[in-house]
Amino acid sequence: MYFEKSKGFPKDFLWGSASAAYQVEGAWNEDGKGPSNWDEFVRIPGKTFKATTGDKAVDHYHRYKEDVALMAEMGLKTYRFSISWPRIIPDGNGEVNEKGLQFYDDLINELVKNNIVPMVTVYHWDMPQALEEQYHGWESRRIVDDFVRYAKVLFERYSDRVKHWIIMNEQNVFTGLGWNAGMHPPGKVDDQKMFYQVNHHAFMAHAKSVIALKEICPDAKVGSSFAFTPAYAFDRKPENAMAKMDYDDLENFYWMDMYAYGRYPRAARAYLESKDLMPVIEDEDEEILKKAASLIDFMGVNYYRTCVAEYNPIDGVGATHEMNTTGKKGTAKVQGVPGLYKNPANEFLPTTDWDWTIDPMGLRMCCRQITSRYDLPIVISENGLGAFDKFEDGEIHDPYRIDYLKHHIEELKKACDDGCRVLAYCTWSYTDLLSWLNGYQKRYGFVYVDREEDENSGTLNRYKKDSYYWYKHVIETNGEEL
Ligand code: BG6
Repeated sequence: MYFEKSKGFPKDFLWGSASAAYQVEGAWNEDGKGPSNWDEFVRIPGKTFKATTGDKAVDHYHRYKEDVALMAEMGLKTYRFSISWPRIIPDGNGEVNEKGLQFYDDLINELVKNNIVPMVTVYHWDMPQALEEQYHGWESRRIVDDFVRYAKVLFERYSDRVKHWIIMNEQNVFTGLGWNAGMHPPGKVDDQKMFYQVNHHAFMAHAKSVIALKEICPDAKVGSSFAFTPAYAFDRKPENAMAKMDYDDLENFYWMDMYAYGRYPRAARAYLESKDLMPVIEDEDEEILKKAASLIDFMGVNYYRTCVAEYNPIDGVGATHEMNTTGKKGTAKVQGVPGLYKNPANEFLPTTDWDWTIDPMGLRMCCRQITSRYDLPIVISENGLGAFDKFEDGEIHDPYRIDYLKHHIEELKKACDDGCRVLAYCTWSYTDLLSWLNGYQKRYGFVYVDREEDENSGTLNRYKKDSYYWYKHVIETNGEEL
C-alpha cells in the first residue's frame, strides 16, 4: 500500500535489543550452573569456527550492571534476554539452584530500576546436558513435563516484574540444525522422522507453558519467536509458484500455524503422512495446542533475510549440511528438498559477508503475512547485521550497520501504516556476542566487546559503536528521525 503521510510508530512502541544466555553470559560452570548441551557440543572438534566456546562469552554474567547502564544511557525501552535452563535447574529436572535464580533476579531488578522493560526468552537453545544423557533431550516426550516445570519456576519467580515472555526461540532453527544438518546439538544428520517428532515435543512444551503462564500471571503477554524467512517464487512459471507454496507450508506455516491456530497446515500434514514422517501425536494434544493458540498475545519474529523458491525435481539438489561460517563471501551453496523446492541465490539483492541476503522490504512482508493470516500483534524479536567491525583508537565506525537498520526500520514503519500491530522491535544484538557457529568475528552489537576467538584474547572492555549513538537518537525521536 502507499500512504501520503506516515502515522509513524505507536506512542508506547518498545525499542529494544536482544541477546541469549549462552552467547553473552560466560561463567559456564559458576555458582552451581550445570553443563548444557552447548557446553558439550562446542568441545567436539570441527563444530564451531576456530573451536570457539561460550565459556567466557562476553562475561555478561559479571558485567551485567555495566551493560544495563549502557542500555539506560541509550534510552533502550526493552531488553530481550534468555534464561539458561541449566543455571536454574542444573540437571534439568532435580533441585532448583537459588544462585541461578538470584542472578536473573538481579538482572531484572537492574533493568526495572532503569525503566527498561525485561522481555524474557525461556528457551534459547541451551538445554541441560543431563537431559541428553537421561533420555536424549527433545527426542523424548519426557522433556515436555521437565520443560514446563522449569518454565513455571521462572513464571512464579519473575512474573511480578516480567510481563513479556517468549517461550521458544527459533524452534525451526534449533531442530533443523540439530536433526537435519548436524550443525547444532545433538548433531544428527537427515533424521527427518525425529526432526518432526522433536518439533512436536517442542510445540507441546510451548503450549503447556503458555497455559501455565496465563494461570500464574493472567496479564502477562506471551508468544514464541519464529525465524521467518519469506520466499519469492523464482519467476512466474506456475511450478515455481507452487514451489513457493510448498516451501511456505513446510518451512514457515508449519510453525506459525501451530503457534497461532494449534494445528499443522493440511498440505504439510498430507506430505508428511505420504512419507511416513508424521510425528506421534497423543489424544489430548490437539485440545492443548488449540487452547494455547487461543491464549498467545503476539507472534515473535526473528527476521534476517529472504530467499527464493524454485521447483526442484525429484533427482535435484538436497541438503548440503554446509554453511558459510568464515565470512568469505560467495561460499554458500544452493540447498533444497528433492521433488519440492530449492533455494537459489537472488541476484536482485546484496548479501552480507556470510551470504545472507539484505532485504529490508522482507521485514514488511513478514508483518503483512502474519497480519493477514493470523491477525496477531507482532514482536520483532531479532533483526540485525553480522559484520566485521574495525576497532580504531576506541572508536568503531559501522555505517553499514546503521544503513541496514535504518532501511529495516523504514519498512517496519510502513508495516505499521499498513495496519500491522507491531509492539516491539529488538535489534540483534545489544553487545557483541558469540555467534554460535561463526565465532566472535561476526559482530552484531551496538556495543563493541574487546575479544576475539581465542579465549584469552582481549580485555572484554565495552566501547560504543557509531550505531549506538544513532539508535539512541532513533529511540528519542520514536523512529521519526532515522
Ligand atoms: C538467530 C538466533 O538465529 O540469529 C541468534 O536466535 C543468532 O541466537 C542470530 O545469533 C544470528 O545468527 P548467527 O548465526 O549469525 O549468529
